[in-house]
Amino acid sequence: MKETSLIGCFFLPKIQTESFNSPKPMKTNLSIFSIGLILTLTACNQKIKSEPVTTTHKDTTIAFQEQFRPQYHFTPPAHWMNDPNGLVYNQGVYHLFYQYYPEDIVWGPMHWGHAISKDLIHWEHKPIALYPDKNGYIFSGSAVVDKQNSSGFGSLENPPLVAIFTYHNDVREKVGGNDFQTQGIAYSLDNGDTWTVYDKNPVIGNKAIRDFRDPKVFWYEEGEQWILTLVAGDYARFYASGNLKDWKHLSDFGKNTGAHGGVWECPDLFKLKVENSNEEKWVLFISINPGAPLGGSGTQYFVGDFDGKTFTTDQGDIKWVDYGTDNYAGVTFNNTPDGKRIFIGWMSNWLYAQKTPTEVWRSAMTLPRELSLAKVGKQYVLKSTVVGQIASLAENQIEEATVRLPKTVESEIVSQAEISFSTANSSFKLVFSNAQYDSLALQYNANTNAFSIDRTLSGLIDFEENFGKEIHVIQTPNILGSNIEFKVFSDQSSIEVFINGGTYTFTEIVFPKKPFNKLEIFGDENKEIKNLSIKKMNTIW
Ligand code: FRU
Repeated sequence: MKETSLIGCFFLPKIQTESFNSPKPMKTNLSIFSIGLILTLTACNQKIKSEPVTTTHKDTTIAFQEQFRPQYHFTPPAHWMNDPNGLVYNQGVYHLFYQYYPEDIVWGPMHWGHAISKDLIHWEHKPIALYPDKNGYIFSGSAVVDKQNSSGFGSLENPPLVAIFTYHNDVREKVGGNDFQTQGIAYSLDNGDTWTVYDKNPVIGNKAIRDFRDPKVFWYEEGEQWILTLVAGDYARFYASGNLKDWKHLSDFGKNTGAHGGVWECPDLFKLKVENSNEEKWVLFISINPGAPLGGSGTQYFVGDFDGKTFTTDQGDIKWVDYGTDNYAGVTFNNTPDGKRIFIGWMSNWLYAQKTPTEVWRSAMTLPRELSLAKVGKQYVLKSTVVGQIASLAENQIEEATVRLPKTVESEIVSQAEISFSTANSSFKLVFSNAQYDSLALQYNANTNAFSIDRTLSGLIDFEENFGKEIHVIQTPNILGSNIEFKVFSDQSSIEVFINGGTYTFTEIVFPKKPFNKLEIFGDENKEIKNLSIKKMNTIW
């Protein structure tokens, strides 16, 4: 049976709101912050490049220093956030809009929150961009720069920023019909600061499709028109328009293709060049909830062709953008200055998103990732790596050309770091831990060709029964026979793993009772790893 993913949201218990406005002071344990940098150094040619670390966490009652608050991932100052929306670059800034409920830390009537960034790393919080109106709540969608003023909302001198989103009409939903989701537009003439809702909304009506949402629009050069992709229950629909107001249905995709364990959500269609060739392919992202390999929410992708009307693929298997539990509803930026395809996902899972143990805000975005496409044998494989701008946050702490395993690093930097090394295809295991006996283990088994993430002992886990129940084991066939380049970004409540230039990525959230301050790397007896690098990541707040 297909479910509406949001149904779950409506019935989840409401958490008391008082605590969000005036968060209760939490106990500050200064001792954890005052331990200096203690390194257990076992290997040869080691260089420590900078002074011992002073922590960014001084007072857990201060905004952006609360327990679990990510220090270099985007979070709203307070309250509930889910999907990234309207990702677009315009006039020198990247815009990140997001599903936002400003009155609670659980899902509620949706607004579009807003933040901007010059470098995709440091964010400035802006006022709410879009509020629910008579047509409904403002669900997920996209934004474009209407350079030719095709909509007539602006002028050629001042092209409008146009947002295209889903209206969710809860009154009509409660009446029991299937017509409660429609598509609307709004525009801004001051680069996103203020918005005017189009007075003839909705621009795409709906008579009977229950889950009909999440429009992603882009300018299709070859056909000189706007193309819109949205999802309708368990398949995608494509539309075309010359003016962003009048839309013509072109075709459908996916009724019998891909994963169908839940509702399709948040589509994205874009072109990528295949690495080391002149070939170009179209990639279609479809988030699905439930039905991901590790349960709950996940994002699948299809590689194929788009001729201006129809998307086709001969891909037989199901592929996932990220193989961890916590990267959902991710989409890419329109209009990037360098033509790069940059992705941001919501770092959570509807299985437990509303129950995670934060008090002031809820959930974070993934780091922005640049996407590329490789051909491995006959298959096209999506790769993702964190954008190069991330280097501005990194302070080199440890660099060692050759490290004999096991290796132990005792330092609070491991809770907020970029850690990388390479191995000749052999097994290894990384264990993050703290004095509270919390641990998080990442393991690659070269014999079974599987990568696993074990967060069963990672700290607070019992806020939801599935969160820490099982070790997550993921088969990684494309690694076979090759060297492994391993990179992990840890932050106060997440890890993002990238293997072999992002051929596989795994994103998971964790809630250790105190930040991890020890990292151990194990391998087969007497094995060594190469080019170990641990960089402390500075806070963006
Ligand atoms: C995905 C999603 C979208 C919807 C939005 C509502 O997480 O369910 O399909 O537009 O969240 O907040």
